[in-house]
Amino acid sequence: MRFLLVIAALTMLFSVALSQYDEKHRQQIHFSPPSMWMNDPNGMVYHNGEYHLFYQYYPKDTVWGPMHWGHAVSRDLVRWENLPVALAPDKLGYIFSGNAVVDVNNSAGFKNSQNLPLVAMFTYHDPDGDKAGRTDYQYQAIAVSNDNGRTWSKYDKNPVIPNREKLRDFRDPKVFWHEETKRWIVSLAVGDHIRFYSSENLKDWALASSFGKGIGAQTGVWECPDLFPLKVEGTNETKWVLLVSINPGSPLGGSATQYFVGDFDGKTFRSSDPPQTIRWLDYGRDNYAGVTWTNAPKGRTIFLGWMSNWDYAQQVPTSPWRSAMTLPRDLSLKKTPNGIQLFQTFSKEVDSLRSSPMFRVGGKTVEGKLALGRSQQPMADILLEFDLSKSTSSEFGLEASNGAGESMRIGYDARSKILYTDRSKAGKADFSDKFVKGRHPSSRKEQKPLLKLRLIFDASSVEVIADDGETAFTDTFFPSEPLTTFGLYSEGGPARLLSARGWRMKSIWR
Ligand code: FRU
Repeated sequence: MRFLLVIAALTMLFSVALSQYDEKHRQQIHFSPPSMWMNDPNGMVYHNGEYHLFYQYYPKDTVWGPMHWGHAVSRDLVRWENLPVALAPDKLGYIFSGNAVVDVNNSAGFKNSQNLPLVAMFTYHDPDGDKAGRTDYQYQAIAVSNDNGRTWSKYDKNPVIPNREKLRDFRDPKVFWHEETKRWIVSLAVGDHIRFYSSENLKDWALASSFGKGIGAQTGVWECPDLFPLKVEGTNETKWVLLVSINPGSPLGGSATQYFVGDFDGKTFRSSDPPQTIRWLDYGRDNYAGVTWTNAPKGRTIFLGWMSNWDYAQQVPTSPWRSAMTLPRDLSLKKTPNGIQLFQTFSKEVDSLRSSPMFRVGGKTVEGKLALGRSQQPMADILLEFDLSKSTSSEFGLEASNGAGESMRIGYDARSKILYTDRSKAGKADFSDKFVKGRHPSSRKEQKPLLKLRLIFDASSVEVIADDGETAFTDTFFPSEPLTTFGLYSEGGPARLLSARGWRMKSIWR
């Protein structure tokens, strides 16, 4: 047994050491595993100065398989240290998504050292039950770490929430401490709705309520819920946000994340919107299964998503790893003419990755093309401001290109008033006929005279935040050479550029 453990540890160390994070398409400012398959972020908890990131991981292949929890930690949210696998499958099943909390009051009684215990809650998925056609093959379990997340022991009386009702989809626990009722609350995804359970000790759980049947986007399976409170900016009001990932069901196909804004009294969540309202967290195609960090410092609500889409995640042309996470984003709530909306900005730690300035341009009229700048590497942080009231162009935007004639466009279509990304000419796309689809339906419902965009490029992705956080979209692409030339374009008339600033960015792995 000890011999096997040594071999396992050496294999892990070796694979970490072998990866230089310099392969083609390898993300330089986003977390990705050293090798093999990754999907959802899991167990995100801030504790003792460290942000923990666990993730759905299959250490033996670059496609989905028996799920483990991979593990990395960061002190600054952007530079990551890879650690050994935290949880591996056992006779109860694969380790599906879930989260982790700090059990400050030792409510579960797991404390056995000076350290505060971390308790992870996750779904067991029993592949044999699935194959045998049963529907009770997913149930919830817990594990504890008394050494700041370095090693984990599963609870010997798992599962803590069995699947007596034989619910086919019954997964992705996200636990938090509800101070007012002095109880742990867990949200669980159950096919077409969310259930909330409560507990005093993380072991004994009682059903509190359910939410969502017939509400919001319903064309796919609900997954990875996350319920958290946020102050509505500029008021004393607190609202609760419920994130729910759905697959399929995205407006452009495959995976996407919707959210609800409402109230939660410790038992029941009620949305403030009419049932048919659908709000998307991100209008791009590659931001799924994202949730927020537990215990983030200074009352921050920090989100991280999986930067892929089940439509093609297992076919993307990367090796020896697949998938990356989004950049961390701080969430807030604001009143808008379209009701209370979730806003997101890149977490301020991302700014520390800026290196040399690439361009700074002000007050220009763009007609046709306007070169901005070049870099050696594809990572770039770009701020753009356009005056729509002085633009008659039918569409304009930013283009990132390479010498091989490939380009990625992020633009504004003035005729239909949508922001879009266009990856149809951005490189390899033949690995899946679902990869390139039309433009994003991210309409700017409220017409503002200014259009502000922040775009962050990496080797194979762009994340866009528009209108100071009101709209976000995230997309991956796979060019044959890095896209390192940046410029503006305007078609069908001039566009008025107020300012454009760009910075090169440093790799987090060097
Ligand atoms: C979401 C998801 C979760 C599940 C996990 C399995 O992408 O399907 O519902 O727990 O992935 O890897």
